[in-house]
Amino acid sequence: MKGIILSGGSATRLRPCTKVTSKQLLPVYNRPMIYYPLNTLIKAGIKEILIIVAPERAGDYLNLLGSGKEFGVKFTYEIQDEPKGLAEAFIIGEKFIDEDNVTMILGDNIFEDDFSQDIKSFKSGGKVFAKKVHDPERFGIVEFDKKNKAISIEEKPKSPKSNYCVTGLYIYDSRVIEAAKSLKPSKRGELEITDLNNWYLEKGELEVAMVKGEWIDAGTFDSLLRAQNFAKEKMQDKMVI
Ligand code: DAU
Repeated sequence: MKGIILSGGSATRLRPCTKVTSKQLLPVYNRPMIYYPLNTLIKAGIKEILIIVAPERAGDYLNLLGSGKEFGVKFTYEIQDEPKGLAEAFIIGEKFIDEDNVTMILGDNIFEDDFSQDIKSFKSGGKVFAKKVHDPERFGIVEFDKKNKAISIEEKPKSPKSNYCVTGLYIYDSRVIEAAKSLKPSKRGELEITDLNNWYLEKGELEVAMVKGEWIDAGTFDSLLRAQNFAKEKMQDKMVI
């Protein structure tokens, strides 16, 4: 299993704090934000990690994280020239992934859960993790049938079919590369991770599990504030880095 941390984007929602640095390098209590998703991957035993960054911030990431030796892992870096969508990570990461399975986590997502078992036991297809939210219009939303089987996923729906959103940790087999290459940009001009998830879902190969603990997407000022407190109170004993 290989790992990818997607840590690009321009984070305009957090201006002016992100004018001269990357959102995922902002402090969340006593660590840079990216340490939390990095911790999730390292804890699950992933040793090879690709970090995808925006061009203007690449030097900062290299200075902060280095080769990975300090953490007992190996880092590879790639630049995403423009934020053209989450699914583009698998095209950028094609050589890195090669024929292995891959877990991708978003650089601004903080999970309390330990995904070691899910990651170690993963064989093929895709696996994503859902969480109940109050503002489903902001996320990729899963529709379930009467037997609680996922039947569709919609990106930022105007009329959400449930309150369960797909969170920012995704496990796929290496077919994700060809799937990502087959996607067309959405109306907002992005290669959507939701379209990738539907690619697997249509084949009956997407598993949707539930996130049990807390999950925070720290991309707004309010969620960043929540993340700070959560990191202080609940995450300290869960960190291995
Ligand atoms: O947080 C979970 C949600 O993440 C999912 O429910 C949605 O299905 C998924 O599309 C995504 O929605 P967001 O609107 O939150 O995505 P956002 O554009 O904020 O990007 C998420 C992170 O990925 C953000 O920290 C920046 C980074 N990013 C984003 C894009 C579009 C990149 O590094 N490159 C990109 O091209």
